[in-house]
Amino acid sequence: MKLRGGGRVILSGQSHWPRAIVPAKNSGLPWRRRMKIEIAIDGPWEAVAALHRKLAYGSERLAQGVGDDPKRARLLLVEEEDRVNQILIRISHVAERELRIADELEFRVRNLAYSEPSSWCESLREPFQPVSSLTILPWHPTVSRPSDRHTIVLDSNLAFGTGRHPTTELCLKAIHDLSSGPRGLSGKSVLDFGCGTALLAIAAVKLGAGRGQGVEIDPEAAATAKRNVVLNGLSDRIVISHGSWEAVEGKADLILANLVPSVLLRTGCEVPAHLSEQGRAVVSGFGRNQSQEMEDFFARLGLRITGRLEREGWSALVMERGEGPIATAASPTSGIRTDQCHPGGQDNDRS
Ligand SMILES: C[S@@+](CC[C@H](N)C(=O)[O-])C[C@H]1O[C@@H](n2cnc3c(N)ncnc32)[C@H](O)[C@@H]1O
Repeated sequence: MKLRGGGRVILSGQSHWPRAIVPAKNSGLPWRRRMKIEIAIDGPWEAVAALHRKLAYGSERLAQGVGDDPKRARLLLVEEEDRVNQILIRISHVAERELRIADELEFRVRNLAYSEPSSWCESLREPFQPVSSLTILPWHPTVSRPSDRHTIVLDSNLAFGTGRHPTTELCLKAIHDLSSGPRGLSGKSVLDFGCGTALLAIAAVKLGAGRGQGVEIDPEAAATAKRNVVLNGLSDRIVISHGSWEAVEGKADLILANLVPSVLLRTGCEVPAHLSEQGRAVVSGFGRNQSQEMEDFFARLGLRITGRLEREGWSALVMERGEGPIATAASPTSGIRTDQCHPGGQDNDRS
C-alpha cells in the first residue's frame, strides 16, 4: 500500500506532547475533548469505489474527483482514536487480500484535534474573510488569480493553513493589527516558519510587507506553499524553502510561527537569532492554559510580550526584544528548559 510522505502513514497533530505541557484531562481544550482521526484513501475511481462497497460502514464519505483529476476518488472516514488501528487493519486486509488493489491506493491519516476540515468539502469552497482586510478564495480550477491586493487564492489540499483554524486566524489578526499599527509592515521582511500553505507569508506581503520567506518541513506542504505563491503572483517577493531553521536565510523583521507546543519549545530558541533588531515575532499553536508557560519560555530567550490574542481556547503572543533576563537554565516553576532547543527538531509533529 502506498503511504504518502515517504512511505509512512502521516499522522498530523500533536502526538508527542512534552510531559510538562500535556493539558489536564477534561481541561476543556479542544484537542483533548474527543480525539477524532481522519483516514483519507485516494486512488483511481474504480478501486476506491470497490473498497467503499466492500467496507460498507455507512458513515464514510466517497467523493469523485481529487484535485484536478476527475478519474480519482477519495474515501473519507472519521473514527475515534482507539478504533483507528483496528479499522486500518481491516482496510488493509480488504485492499490487499480480497480486492488486490492495495498498490493503487494512497492513505493519509491525520489527527483532527489539531487539523482543519478537508478543503475539498463543498461548503469550504466559499470565499471568507478571516480579518476585515483580507478575503480568502479557496482555490478551484475555475478560480483565477486575484486582481485586488486584499484577496488571496489558496490551495490547501495537502497542507495546513486554510485560514479557518483559530490559531491561523489569530496570526492573521496579529498581521492585520501590525500592518495597520504605527510602524506598519511597509517594506519589512517576513519569515513564515512552518508555513503550511504559506497563507501567513502571503497575507503579510499583501498587507504591505516587502518580501517573505516560508520554511516548511513537510515536502508536500512546501510544494503546496510554492504553488500558492505562484497562484497569487508573488514569486518575485516570496521564497519557499523545504526544511527547518537551517533553511532560513538572514534575519526577518517579522517572524510568524504557528506550531504545536512541542515544536515551539524544541525549536523556538532560534527565534531571537533570526529576528532583526527592531523585529517582532508572532507565535501561536498553543492553548490558553499554556500561554503563561510560552511567555516564560520566550522571556528567558530575551523576548517581551507586546500583545496577547485569544480565540476558542487558543492563544497567540506578539513579541519583540525586551530588557528581560536571558536565562539559560530551567525555570523552577514551568519545567520547560530553553537549553533543550533543537533547531531542526521535528519528526512526528506535523502541525
Ligand atoms: C499548525 S501548521 C501552521 C501552518 C500555517 N503557518 C498556519 O498558520 O496555518 C504548522 C506547520 O509547521 C510545519 N512544521 C512543523 N515542524 C516544523 C519544523 N521544525 N520546521 C519547519 N516546519 C515545521 C508543519 O509541517 C506544518 O505545516
